[in-house]
Amino acid sequence: MLGPVILAASRSEQMRRLVSAAPVTKPVVTRFIAGETTEETLPVVKDLTDRRLEVTIDVLGEDVTDPAEAVRARDAYLHLIDGLRPLGLGERAEMSVKLSSFGQALPGGHDLALKNITAVVEAADEIGTMVSLDMEDHTTADSTLAIHAELRRRFPKTGAVVQSYLFRTEDDCRDLAAAGSRVRLVKGAYKEPASVAHQDKHEVDRAYVRCLKILMAGKGYPMIGSHDPRLIAIAQDLALRAGRDLDAYEFQMLYGIRSEEQHRLAAEGHRVRVYMAYGTDWYGYFMRRLAERPANLAFFLRSFVTKG
Ligand code: FDA
Repeated sequence: MLGPVILAASRSEQMRRLVSAAPVTKPVVTRFIAGETTEETLPVVKDLTDRRLEVTIDVLGEDVTDPAEAVRARDAYLHLIDGLRPLGLGERAEMSVKLSSFGQALPGGHDLALKNITAVVEAADEIGTMVSLDMEDHTTADSTLAIHAELRRRFPKTGAVVQSYLFRTEDDCRDLAAAGSRVRLVKGAYKEPASVAHQDKHEVDRAYVRCLKILMAGKGYPMIGSHDPRLIAIAQDLALRAGRDLDAYEFQMLYGIRSEEQHRLAAEGHRVRVYMAYGTDWYGYFMRRLAERPANLAFFLRSFVTKG
């Protein structure tokens, strides 16, 4: 019930100012956000990768309002790539990018986002790694998947994300399950209308399994983006039945969520990639994490009571 209210608040400028300025917010935010700067975040990357995990790094920022901001967002990723270079982690540290932060929603935004993301994918390729394109609300899906297809011509490891709550996603999975194609399957984190997306949690889960079956049976590289123990078990079973080796798929979870499970799966020999977000523009990301799980919200509200 609370999820949609929090998702609505995640778009409110007034709420952004209120939550961002509250003194108790910061310690709670650090549970989900790896740092505010690249310099704070790189040691966290080093620590996780030293402990057999892999990472995908998101420099926070969404919905830019002019092309100059989009260029600044691009440059923030280039700075991150410079910081990653001496660590020599290769594919163990990839990047996740929201194309809205690269200008996708501006007039002429498709081409602008393609230009900005191409520079980042080229720089990532130079240090032996790649980029995945996060999926945002459904109005962006066609443009994002078209940019993904364009990038894959030169950089076949560029990853796509599909959301099981969207009706279109089974078809997208069929299109994407091609050789060498990296596809992250998630449930979906935005408030979507009933005309395009399942509204019932169980329907979203059932659709997730249908999509998983397509991806596991296909020729691509499935990336299971979920903390849901049932879906993780089903993915393991489907991978086994499809005769996939442990390195022919991977699990992905968010930084700060089910960390013990991340280490447990890695210790069993699975590839596990942690999605780490960092930066000062953490409000939208943080609010989506609160909306996903009442316990996360309770954790946040408790800190108001205990500290306030
Ligand atoms: P859900 O939140 O439904 O939880 C299912 C079960 O998991 C719970 O009942 C519980 O058992 C367990 N669980 C969940 N959180 C837990 C916790 N904190 N502690 C203990 N147990 C817990 N979305 C999007 O729209 N576009 C995108 O590009 C991405 N990218 C992305 C990358 C990665 C790596 C992940 C993991 C997720 C995303 N998402 C996303 C977010 C995604 O769409 C979704 O909102 C969240 O992953 C939450 O859904 P879950 O599948 O984790 O299950």
